[in-house]
Amino acid sequence: MTNKKYLDRRRFLKILTAGSALAIPVGWGCSTDSGIVTPSGIALTPSQTEGPFYPTPSIEQQMFNDTDLTRKLPTDVLAQGQLIVLDGVVQDRNEQLLENAVVEIWQASSMGLYNHPNDNANNPSLDQHFQFWGRAITGVDGKYSFSTIVPGEYDGRTARHIHFRVDAPGYRRLTTQSYFANYGARNAMDGLYSSLNSEGRDLLTVEFSQPANEPWAGVFNIVLAEA
Ligand SMILES: [Fe+2]
Repeated sequence: MTNKKYLDRRRFLKILTAGSALAIPVGWGCSTDSGIVTPSGIALTPSQTEGPFYPTPSIEQQMFNDTDLTRKLPTDVLAQGQLIVLDGVVQDRNEQLLENAVVEIWQASSMGLYNHPNDNANNPSLDQHFQFWGRAITGVDGKYSFSTIVPGEYDGRTARHIHFRVDAPGYRRLTTQSYFANYGARNAMDGLYSSLNSEGRDLLTVEFSQPANEPWAGVFNIVLAEA
């Protein structure tokens, strides 16, 4: 697909998805791997591999696990890196907003290191001010919001990404990753990102506004499948 066609399609999808939902109309047909369009609703968020760095112990059991990853305590200095605010809603394919969904994220620091025993947990360059993971529970509006930083690249991954695990009563667990639209060239070189079809890439790639001297802001809406 040419760049222009790709951008035109992205704009089209953006128009469709303006508002609260990634709304793809009924009758668009079906895609069988990621970015599934069902006859009865909007596109499910594609799943992606969990990877080897889900926190241990679990995020729920961590001492610091709130929605502000930019520091562990309000009085701490900020973690290194570009600050971002990433929010969205959790909903089902009928656009019903899901209350009490648990949204967990984990990611690398700006230097591309996870706080995990399998990834240089004792590395002196590990950013001790960064929280590395967080946990949100949606309210009646289905919303979640995290303050964090742009993760760095690391060996084997040229696409900067944030890992997600989402659970809601009555729905299937979703494990996936979100990506940054403004690193498109590096995304294209990433094996896992490239393994998505174009619909899947659109659904997992977040456009961030980039105001000067403020956190970048992006929206990642999540659509779960019924259990
Ligand atoms: Fe990762």
